Amino acid sequence: MAAEFAGKVALITGGATGIGRAAALQLAAQGALVVIADVALEAARQTAADCVSAGGKALPVACNVRDDGQVASAVAAAVDTYGQLDIAINAAGIGGREVRTADYDPADWDAVIDINLTGVWRSMRHEIPAMLRKQSGCIVNVASVAGLNGFPRHPAYAASKHGVIGLTKTAALEYGRKGLRINALCPGFTLTPMVQQMLDAGLPKDDLAARVPLGRLGTPEEVAASALYLCSSAAAFMIGHSLAVDGGIVAG
Ligand SMILES: NC(=O)c1ccc[n+]([C@@H]2O[C@H](COP(=O)([O-])OP(=O)(O)OC[C@H]3O[C@@H](n4cnc5c(N)ncnc54)[C@H](O)[C@@H]3O)[C@@H](O)[C@H]2O)c1
Repeated sequence: MAAEFAGKVALITGGATGIGRAAALQLAAQGALVVIADVALEAARQTAADCVSAGGKALPVACNVRDDGQVASAVAAAVDTYGQLDIAINAAGIGGREVRTADYDPADWDAVIDINLTGVWRSMRHEIPAMLRKQSGCIVNVASVAGLNGFPRHPAYAASKHGVIGLTKTAALEYGRKGLRINALCPGFTLTPMVQQMLDAGLPKDDLAARVPLGRLGTPEEVAASALYLCSSAAAFMIGHSLAVDGGIVAG
């Protein structure tokens, strides 16, 4: 894959930390020009600086995926700065509260759906036209194993991620013949700041690892590598796919 991404322009929502950050670093190390779009601007700046330290090129952009104008500006920044858009990894997301379905707070529900599902749609709404201009491009929407299986006490999260998979399949069918490949990635428990929050809240790491058939959490780098695979020519015949990278959770 070494020369695969040289000169490609990649936009990563949620690229400041965790899986998005690992994807940014891997893409930059392989010669891509990376736009890191995140609501956490300071962390996005740090990730961009780390990409540059590793010999790559990167641009941090403040972007809340709840705001259509900010998403439009992030895509425009990629095109204006680097000339085109070849790759988009839509990783921005939140976990939401751990509460059963009937007890879920409506405002919390709206926030999770708006960021995790509508945020992916808002992102594609602007990424797709940029890619159609050159009749090629790859989009990876970061869903979850909670987009394939139920996830007790996380109803909004599971609903949002199931939604991302349906949206991904639909967009893939709509734009496949126009040169776009759109797929979803379904990570299992991965040791990122999102999962670290669960551990900090008192969930023992061993309990989480015991829910993974491989017996351990994934790393952001392992998950990011699968996102890059979906964007590579090795995945040229894949569209509308939901790739589980989960240590075996959905096999069980
Ligand atoms: N870590 C896991 O175990 C796991 C498992 C399955 C799926 N995922 C998914 O992977 C993606 C990345 O999560 P992560 O684990 O790397 O967590 P993370 O918290 O490290 O990364 C999420 C990033 O999204 C950004 N973000 C949050 N809300 C945003 C908004 N409104 N606009 C723009 N950016 C926003 C955050 O600032 C952060 O940089 C998420 O979509 C998450 O649901 C994670």
